Amino acid sequence: MDEKLEQVEKILKKYKQEQLLRCYDKLIEAKKEELLDQILKIDFDHMQKLYEETKGKKDFKNFDIEPLPYVDKEKLEKEEKEKYQKDGTEIIKSGRYAVVTMAGGQGTRLGHDGPKGTFELEVNPKRPLFTLLSETIREAIEKYDAVIPWYIMTSKENNSQTQEFFKRHNYFEMGEENVKFFIQNEMPMIDTTGKILVDDKGMVKQAADGHGGIFEAMRKEGILEDMRSRGIEWIFIAGVDNVLAKMVDPILTGLAINRKCLAAGKSVVKNNPKEKVGVFCKKDNKPSVIEYTEITDEMAEAIDENGELLYGESHILCNLFNIKAVEEISINKLPYHSAFKKAKYIDENGVIVVPQEPNAYKFEAFIFDAFERLNDMAIMRVKREEEFAPVKNAEGVDSPETAKNLYLDFIKNKK
Ligand code: UTP
Repeated sequence: MDEKLEQVEKILKKYKQEQLLRCYDKLIEAKKEELLDQILKIDFDHMQKLYEETKGKKDFKNFDIEPLPYVDKEKLEKEEKEKYQKDGTEIIKSGRYAVVTMAGGQGTRLGHDGPKGTFELEVNPKRPLFTLLSETIREAIEKYDAVIPWYIMTSKENNSQTQEFFKRHNYFEMGEENVKFFIQNEMPMIDTTGKILVDDKGMVKQAADGHGGIFEAMRKEGILEDMRSRGIEWIFIAGVDNVLAKMVDPILTGLAINRKCLAAGKSVVKNNPKEKVGVFCKKDNKPSVIEYTEITDEMAEAIDENGELLYGESHILCNLFNIKAVEEISINKLPYHSAFKKAKYIDENGVIVVPQEPNAYKFEAFIFDAFERLNDMAIMRVKREEEFAPVKNAEGVDSPETAKNLYLDFIKNKK
């Protein structure tokens, strides 16, 4: 232990991060050990680089941006649609299809006490988001008479609560062996001077590393191995907060297969040029998503020959990957983006500070940065009212109220 402590002290001195041992003496033995291990896992050179990057602004004009071709599900030729349906159905029926739900986010905007998936939507009867998602998957399991395993990505923060919730709900009658959990990675948070924060328990202040952390987590946590052993070929990955996510989609799967793409994404038409959503595009000839903060007004308003927005295919976090693509992507980390957030910490006087304004950088990888690692991607436009009802904010746009109404309308029209 003393040796380990010395080793840690040396590293911290080298990187001027000695504050991380601020509470060390007050911790119980087990926590001391855990703190030292936490510190030994940090890549300080990488953290320093990320800190430097928070000071500079990216120049998006350096990229060659073009629209990414897409197909509209509604406008597919009958024969084409039937072919996709047939090929996709074959994959699902033969047990080569899995669903992954990303539920490792903090859900800060919603402000629900507990994992976001346990938030109850006021539909009749009111049900948690996880329950609504499980209903969609179970419907497909019955329809295709197939085993469709469900993988849930959690964070260190919400993993045990999430697993307890599933246990209480008897794994939604899908069989415990068909519902698997895996924990995503965390990244330290730094203040504006580049110092890593100490959290309110005296440990390193860390936060989930973004939905882009999914690829690395699937590899490290043995999920890819588990999928391989079950013969899974296609993996649908979506967030926990879209209550209309159609996660088992034979047409999207058939489209990817017939286009010989290792990934496919669903889009909905952007409501208006100013809507705050990322849109699919080609960046230096590779599939990508350009965020609303990055797109110029001119590009956002550009119109194609049919009078539609040229960059109008919104990315809704509903994507399908071939397992080979996930394996490939998971080898190298995706880039991190910084976000300036409020983070509770212990200061140099040992006092817990609860900031009222953002005070620290959080580092997150985005799933769509993985698209650039692929040569091509099949994009399918679907109807917003059928597949997109996000729960993001406590009120206003994309809130429980809007999601509830969309969900109820969907159910009414389905009947
Ligand atoms: P959001 O970016 O909307 O984040 O995540 P969030 O955590 O739900 O909400 P805010 O921004 O804190 O208010 C979109 C999806 O990606 C998952 C979320 O759980 C959600 O399903 N996600 C996000 C992760 O699984 N891990 C992360 O680190 C971040």
